[in-house]
Amino acid sequence: TILVVDFGGQYNQLIARRVRECHVYSEIVSYTKAMEAIREKKPAGIIFTGGPNSVYLEDSPSISTEVFELGIPVLGICYGSQLMMHLLGGHVCVAPEREYGKTEVNVDTKSKLFQGVSEKTICWMSHNDYIEKAAPGFTISAYTTNCPVAAMEWPERNLYAVQFHPEVLHTQEGTKMLSNFVYNVCGCKGEWTMDSFVEKSIEAIRAKVGDGKVLCALSGGVDSSVAAVMLAKAVGKQLTCVFVDHGLLRKNESEEVCSVFGPEGPYDLNFICVDARQRFYDKLKGVEEPEKKRKIIGEEFIRVFEEEAKKIGTVDFLVQGTIYPDVVESGAGGESTVIKSHHNVGGLPDYVDFKEIIEPLRDLFKDEVRNAGRQLGIPEYLVSRQPFPGPGLAIRIIGEVTEEKIKMVQDADAIWREEIAAAGEDKNLGQYFAALTNMRSVGVMGDERTYDYAVALRAVTTTDFMTAEPAYLPWDLIAKVTSRIVNEVPHINRVMYDCTGKPPATIEFE
Ligand code: XMP
Repeated sequence: TILVVDFGGQYNQLIARRVRECHVYSEIVSYTKAMEAIREKKPAGIIFTGGPNSVYLEDSPSISTEVFELGIPVLGICYGSQLMMHLLGGHVCVAPEREYGKTEVNVDTKSKLFQGVSEKTICWMSHNDYIEKAAPGFTISAYTTNCPVAAMEWPERNLYAVQFHPEVLHTQEGTKMLSNFVYNVCGCKGEWTMDSFVEKSIEAIRAKVGDGKVLCALSGGVDSSVAAVMLAKAVGKQLTCVFVDHGLLRKNESEEVCSVFGPEGPYDLNFICVDARQRFYDKLKGVEEPEKKRKIIGEEFIRVFEEEAKKIGTVDFLVQGTIYPDVVESGAGGESTVIKSHHNVGGLPDYVDFKEIIEPLRDLFKDEVRNAGRQLGIPEYLVSRQPFPGPGLAIRIIGEVTEEKIKMVQDADAIWREEIAAAGEDKNLGQYFAALTNMRSVGVMGDERTYDYAVALRAVTTTDFMTAEPAYLPWDLIAKVTSRIVNEVPHINRVMYDCTGKPPATIEFE
């Protein structure tokens, strides 16, 4: 294991991911719990992350100097490098010239860290402070025009530090540097692979569950689908999956989930599909206010699930599709500011009788979850699915939700998705969908006057869904989709493209 000690930097999850891409398992731990974690896990190496603070200020995040005495290799990145210097007697202060962005760095290729790296290499810098003087014992292994100490090392003590960010892709040979650290310095073998992870997880689940009963709420999303299949492979018929069709899913989604998990699918499990569509439509009748719609759907969902759970009776385990970013974002993993308390972590349903929770994906990043899904043989259309909100299409229909409007937005959305995929744009986008505005306007079709709805197309690029940019899509793609939607979907006579970023808009419409 490589332990990433989190000092609050924005790229911390990236560091762990890049290490895992070297087939070495990596975890993030807050600096406040780092020494405990190091003693417990005995990692092969430690990486200090960046962070927004200045090391020389009183209350800045720090760590005991004991960490340097354990013989475990340490790599400091940005704030982490400054901290290492500060703690070991170097001098850090405000840089005369702050560096931000792609910067040419001159590296000493004799360093273990820079083996195979070009002598002049482009790296990503982002710092206001700089290391004026390295700590005694260290030699300087890289410099830039504005930064005399861009990397430093004390090979005999396995201490390395870089001012730039090798984890971001703008650092062109960053992956090489990180793999040099984990292989050459830490001596890791690179044996962590997805198939071994999946295999080991299945065995561990089997051992844990014994002959117990397991319940899983299946949403049809990537995480719950992968978790369900893992459980199905581990314990088969001891698992019951409950899928609630609230009638607000995308076109054909319910059928797709049922064909994979139902009796005609490849898995040997108990599958319950609850057709609750009418219940939800009844509850949503006449409701226009976004928050009210969300609340009604959330509550009704719990009610339906509760009824099904009662029929099953007490279970031993409840499966949750929590993934690693959820854990980290909830503050359980690292130090980065608590962004949102995710519903999967902490907030356990109190309406189901169960003894223990199973979270088979707790250690995986989203793309790793998708790979685990592929490893498990789950169809690609489920594995590569984009995020879809719990309240479903209800928050993509502005105003009252009716069956007629659901059908419109489903059909328009299906066309939008189909054409985006056909144009090969899907890989570049974070999320894309159609929403039905509550606007009706005059049009002309044939020789007839129409007074119909306008649909809004949304496509954004984002890495974390907290901020997003509108996607710059080719005009002919938008034109083609527009023409198909107005021709193929009754009661839509206008198509708009949403050019707003988040902020100020949100990704969804309600
Ligand atoms: P917004 O609209 O807030 O959405 O920019 C950010 C991301 O969160 C998803 N989203 C939800 N996911 N339950 C969910 O599981 C919800 O109630 C919900 N609301 C929004 C949204 O699709 C986007 O990916």
